Amino acid sequence: MANIRKLIADLRRKIGYHNYRYHVLDDPEISDAEYDDLFRKLQKLEEDHPELVTPDSPTRRVGAPPLEEFGTVTHRVPMLSLENAMNEEELRAFDERTKRTLGSDSHVTYVAEPKLDGVAVELVYEDGMLVNGSTRGDGITGEDITQNLRTVRSIPLRLHHEVGKPTDGNAGPPWVEVRGEVFMEKDAFVRLNKGRMDEGEPPFANPRNAAAGSLRQLDSSITSSRPLKFFCYEMGHTEGFSFSTHWDALQAVKRWGLPVNPNIEVFEGIQPVVEYFRKWEKNREKLPYDIDGVVIKVNHLAYRDLLGIRSRSPRWAIAGKFKAQQATTVVEDIEASVGRTGAVTPVAHLKPTNVGGVMVSRATLHNQDEIDRKDVRIGDTVLIQRAGDVIPKVVKVDLDKRPRETGRYVLPSRCPVCGGEVARPAGEAVARCQNVACPAQLKGRIAHFASKRAMDIEGLGTKLIDQLVDTGLLLSFADIYTLKKEDVASLERMADKSAQNLMDAIETRRKTTLARFLYGMGIRNVGEHLAQVLARRFQTLDSLMEADFDHLEIIDEVGPIVAESVVRFFESNENRRVIEQCLDGGVELTVPEKEEQVPRLLANKTLVFTGALEKVTRHEAQDLVEKLGGHAAGSVSKKTDYVVAGPGARSKLKRAQELGIPILSEEEFLRMVEG
Ligand code: IVH
Repeated sequence: MANIRKLIADLRRKIGYHNYRYHVLDDPEISDAEYDDLFRKLQKLEEDHPELVTPDSPTRRVGAPPLEEFGTVTHRVPMLSLENAMNEEELRAFDERTKRTLGSDSHVTYVAEPKLDGVAVELVYEDGMLVNGSTRGDGITGEDITQNLRTVRSIPLRLHHEVGKPTDGNAGPPWVEVRGEVFMEKDAFVRLNKGRMDEGEPPFANPRNAAAGSLRQLDSSITSSRPLKFFCYEMGHTEGFSFSTHWDALQAVKRWGLPVNPNIEVFEGIQPVVEYFRKWEKNREKLPYDIDGVVIKVNHLAYRDLLGIRSRSPRWAIAGKFKAQQATTVVEDIEASVGRTGAVTPVAHLKPTNVGGVMVSRATLHNQDEIDRKDVRIGDTVLIQRAGDVIPKVVKVDLDKRPRETGRYVLPSRCPVCGGEVARPAGEAVARCQNVACPAQLKGRIAHFASKRAMDIEGLGTKLIDQLVDTGLLLSFADIYTLKKEDVASLERMADKSAQNLMDAIETRRKTTLARFLYGMGIRNVGEHLAQVLARRFQTLDSLMEADFDHLEIIDEVGPIVAESVVRFFESNENRRVIEQCLDGGVELTVPEKEEQVPRLLANKTLVFTGALEKVTRHEAQDLVEKLGGHAAGSVSKKTDYVVAGPGARSKLKRAQELGIPILSEEEFLRMVEG
């Protein structure tokens, strides 16, 4: 046992270290596969020895049962807000004020930091262990979001260094509260929203809302799936050590393994601070996250005490705010534009206006729901906002300036490019042109069809696709199979040899699996995995094409959303024609292996469900267990193998904890049985 304890401790230390290299230093030492390997080893050991599981284990980042509501936390030191300086003069005035109060003629030392636009949180570490995490709230009390903050990978669950050593700033502190910002990077935000829209969920308005929304989840497994990051910028109450400057405190925080923004700098006097402010106002878009200004702080902590606090904000710090990236202008027209995936997006044509130094003449209105929510109409005066590289958007309408005789805007029901039907499946926000041969979507669809994981036609990349579509050689992906070498060779910058290579590549992949072909057709909501599921179940394209909604919906993994997209896809005459052309062109689909026998994953296992289930009914969950060879029992005993606990679970959960029985959330249970 002592050996296993040591093994587990070693693994946790290693994982903690590599987590830090990856998420905090952005400089991993081992590959993802090696990391996964360590993680799985630890998981296995903890599974076999549940009594050795401790809350600081990296495996415990997720897995707490969902809460019914958040508790409250009173901050020992209030979390203050900042006064704003709207321009350089106000920054200089802050410096004058500071010097006057300190009675100093010489330069004050300042620390200058990017002002991240996220959610302020406090983390409490006791003897180096993360014991609590909370939101700022009203500054005095916030919400207890410990479970959610534990899922943020750059937040250490345990600080570096042994505790109890002399506190020279190198040792772990007995008690420390740190404050910082939880945020989402711009790229990750765009990806998250794209995924949400694909799933028919409403997109978040900006990275700040996405971060706040993710932290507000009662089920921490949702938070865990969101790409959140953290930077530490202050300390709260501390015990057992002290620093003389803010800069030193930040260095210590870094040594303990907490992430600190690398763009923080220390300066003598206000002039370089003003230059720092200018530099970041100009370069804010180069950062991977949104900032709305810089924060200037007096470096010497003794001066902070002298300067004190005015109502809710300290006199020792100020936020230098950047010029708003917003402006007011008029919507001259609204156009429905069709993207590569067929998404029909309303775009506002604006009276050109300068927003934060850039001329803007268009703004996205996202989708019909957004238009309805904001009630944007042609002729309206609107507030627009530019953020990073993303297309500017309309924030709100100035109703007082609305001209008479305007009407609500409704997206067209026919595609403005090809005239095909535009449909919006129930529950989805995005309307799409249903015609796969629509020229607006053609290039994207062909690229997907030819891609590695679909038909895998080597050499048919986006540049060549652009040429082939622009010269009219490809009107749909079916035309790939009737391409002639001479036609391809006649394209600009196309050598005879390359044309032959392409013909060969098409030839070699003419025979392929039904799953690849299905995936390649780009049916909404049918990714690679579902294409395989459908292929296995239906065996031939014909029988899939004949399947109706009820047929599809009952298949494991195929819910109503997928069933509807499949039916809709095959309903379209254009789509049927393209498929026929592919087959006429010689595409040959191999018959997949018969559906595998479901493995009896839970053979002879006893599970107990307690508390509420949210994704499936109790009945469905029990059916699943039986189907996999297991048994669902009503009470917890030593014979129980797993307890699945949802919100509201009490006595059975407690009993399971006492007996050391592994406890799963509903999500974990579903993941386990779905393999
Ligand atoms: S210091 C008394 N530093 O700005 C000092 N705040 O209005 C309080 N913020 O709620 C905070 N980056 O969410 C500080 N480097 C930074 C910051 C920062 C962003 C946010 C924070 C806070 C708000 C203050």
